[in-house]
Amino acid sequence: MKKVGIIGWRGMVGSVLLERMEMEGDFAKIDPYFFSTSQAGQNGPLIYNKTHTLRDANDVNELADMDIIISCQGGDYTKKVRPALDEVSWQGYWIDAASAKRMDDDSLIILDPVNKDIIDKALNDGVKNFIGGNCTVSLMLMGIGSLFQENLVEWMTSMSYQAASGGGARHMKELLTQMKVIGDVANPIMEGPILQLDTDISNLLKSEKLNADCFGVPLALNLIPWIDSAVEKGQTREEWKAFSETNKILGRKDNPIPIDGTCVRVGALRSHSQALTIKLNKSVDIKTIEDMIKNFSEFTEFVENTPEATREKLNPRYVSGTLKTTVGRVRKMNLGDEYLNIFTSGDQLLWGAAEPLRRMLNIVL
Ligand code: HSE
Repeated sequence: MKKVGIIGWRGMVGSVLLERMEMEGDFAKIDPYFFSTSQAGQNGPLIYNKTHTLRDANDVNELADMDIIISCQGGDYTKKVRPALDEVSWQGYWIDAASAKRMDDDSLIILDPVNKDIIDKALNDGVKNFIGGNCTVSLMLMGIGSLFQENLVEWMTSMSYQAASGGGARHMKELLTQMKVIGDVANPIMEGPILQLDTDISNLLKSEKLNADCFGVPLALNLIPWIDSAVEKGQTREEWKAFSETNKILGRKDNPIPIDGTCVRVGALRSHSQALTIKLNKSVDIKTIEDMIKNFSEFTEFVENTPEATREKLNPRYVSGTLKTTVGRVRKMNLGDEYLNIFTSGDQLLWGAAEPLRRMLNIVL
């Protein structure tokens, strides 16, 4: 059995990865080794009633003993350790959740329901680095990948509604703590005049009483139309990824599809949503579009454009903790026959992070 080293298994993405690997029986197919940057020698996770002793994630020789390494440890670790493995001529497969190596020429961004043919070709060509994509990009492609595969998209805008989990576990807790404090302040005055309630809560949001160390300002009862750092021309890095990563996943580096939009953090817990405007490159009837979405993959769920179905299924509440990406509000826009409106929701930690990694492991095995 292949030796598989796992690093960063304790974090948010790593925990979801382990949960999914246990659920799908992946550990029965591999010889797993767990690494830690700070607790080598101590007990690691219990997998199928066996405790694994932690190895040193900073020891290149121990890492080089692995056939496959899966890292959820973050970009700084990748930047430090991946070149060190090259220096000892390691020939194994590097599967990574971090963005650090995504755009490198010797890496592929993995999302096998969308680009399995490109993954297979890369394996044949000897590519060793397989990197999970940005969550928003992966979830968008899991929703409407068929429209790209059919080469129907001339350009697209994406307006996102991104959950707290995109920042990590601390961000999720910060949002929930803010909600608790807001609830505590609202509770005793809930039966009183609405304007008093509104004033007190508005003042609370503007005060220093809500901890906002992670997000900078309260996210509860608020939103933040800025995610990650600034890049060029007023874009954020998260917005930049929509264009660059989508086109890399689709193998369209030399013939990219224009994609841009605004990424917004909202008070959802672990699922991202997106409102898409798509300019088709030809007129296609809406029934054909719907069928393409429905038939794309077993993980894509089409939602009828009705108030009942939309409220029930096209949101974080419905998709969280599942592998479903829901796609709805599909309609031609008043802008013209070639303009499509679509809304999609998906779990940021599953298809947006952990799932492509464990599926890549299975492809390599
Ligand atoms: N950058 C994403 C976010 C998560 O902040 O929501 C990781 O893809």
